[in-house]
Amino acid sequence: MNNNLHITNLSKTYANGINALSEVSLHLENGMFGLLGPNGAGKSSLMKTIVGLQRPTSGSLSLNGTDVLANPLEIKRQVGYLPQDFGIYPRVSALDLLDHIAALKGISNKKERTEQVTWLLEKTNLYAERKRDVSSFSGGMRQRFGIAQALLGNPRCIIVDEPTAGLDPEERNRFNTVLAELGKDVIVILSTHLVEDVRNLCSSMAIINKGRVIAHGTPAEFLAAVENCVWQITVEPHEITRYKERCHILSTHIQSGAFVITALAETCPDAGFQHITPRLEDAYFAHLYGYF
Ligand SMILES: Nc1ncnc2c1ncn2[C@@H]1O[C@H](COP(=O)(O)OP(=O)(O)OP(=O)(O)O)[C@@H](O)[C@H]1O
Ligand SMILES: [Mg+2]
Repeated sequence: MNNNLHITNLSKTYANGINALSEVSLHLENGMFGLLGPNGAGKSSLMKTIVGLQRPTSGSLSLNGTDVLANPLEIKRQVGYLPQDFGIYPRVSALDLLDHIAALKGISNKKERTEQVTWLLEKTNLYAERKRDVSSFSGGMRQRFGIAQALLGNPRCIIVDEPTAGLDPEERNRFNTVLAELGKDVIVILSTHLVEDVRNLCSSMAIINKGRVIAHGTPAEFLAAVENCVWQITVEPHEITRYKERCHILSTHIQSGAFVITALAETCPDAGFQHITPRLEDAYFAHLYGYF
């Protein structure tokens, strides 16, 4: 089934006056959509609004033609959500907790519930641990449990808010593999700080900053926009300020004890700069710093 989510001119102002979202418009279809943005950009605010945990100040949302704001209960069944902070993990076994959440999501047939819960425990590699309390799970296991609960009830849209933060590389890989496999036929919205995950997993993406979508497209389009324009130079720490004044610095990092500057320029910005193959994070910073 082809699913679509239309987000139109969505704005959210909190009671304290903060404009977390300003006129956000996006059109999403099946596949993984990456939402990138710095801390406080509005990613979680957008996700919470889509899943109906809070109402927007203005704007509209529709999933497969159904008005999300007018039909909150129906939408809750069609959207799976893994929040950034899951809150307290109860001292209940993974099996029992999934069964309970499945019932809450409206799967009233016990046999159907058991089948779905078993299938999800297997898919998320938690079957062997199903009788353990979720509160005793490691961070990685919790996140895999989180994706299992988000997938109960065959949602049309799955929203995962920074799911791999704090996971070791192996667990992060495991989580991403599960998500990529299960998310093929639905809309998956993934928010993250890991630009590399978006590059590896997502067919389209948006950059959000200060509540606004500042750019959207496919990762390939983002990369094409900085093609032949990314340069690097290794410098002494005291030289960094001088380069900051002269060129559009995308990032600086330490490599084997030396400072490496990455910059954006159509032609070689200064003697000593080497041309590099652009990475998605270069495109991300170019947008974030307004270099285009
Ligand atoms: N419930 C709330 N009440 C008031 N202000 C809020 C609330 N939730 C978020 N904000 C503010 O709205 C802005 C956007 O926050 P949000 O959590 O959506 O950002 P984010 O992109 O998810 O950030 P992070 O990457 O740190 O998770 C921030 O300035 C934040 O302080
Ligand atoms: Mg957040």
